[in-house]
Amino acid sequence: MRIVDLPKYPLSQDEIAMVDRVIEKFKNKKGALIPVLQEIQKSIGFLPVEVQKKIAKELNIAEKEVYGVATFYSFFSMIPRGENDIRVCLGTACFVKGGKKIADKIQKELGIKPGQTTKDRKYSLQINRCLGACGLAPIIVINDKIYQKVKPEEVMDIIYSLDKE
Ligand code: FES
Repeated sequence: MRIVDLPKYPLSQDEIAMVDRVIEKFKNKKGALIPVLQEIQKSIGFLPVEVQKKIAKELNIAEKEVYGVATFYSFFSMIPRGENDIRVCLGTACFVKGGKKIADKIQKELGIKPGQTTKDRKYSLQINRCLGACGLAPIIVINDKIYQKVKPEEVMDIIYSLDKE
């Protein structure tokens, strides 16, 4: 995904204040870029493009350098994890028992692809390999809770019921 294709995920006032505090803490210090990126990633969970631009400006570093570092290390992410982190198992057992249909249904309903998060940051979707519970196939995991023998037609009810919890 190119940087221009990334959807915008608006930050809350608290998150903006957090970003400002981190930048302020490291400003004018040598080798500040990676610690700043690490601390912001840790506090708000991702490194939005507009935050990278702000870091570049405040630390007086070229934007492309910030972007280069942010994309080089796998522990940095430019996409936030959703409030509900949905993982669909597509290992062999889950795949043959309907896992693919489940993944397709979620993608269609939420309008996101694996590795993406909805704009409102409520849901993110990932595809997993075998999670070691093939006897319960097909399974999905939402925020560490396992749902077993899931049917494609009921998966969205499961997902939307999380909002009521
Ligand atoms: S294939 Fe899904 S748990 Fe093994």
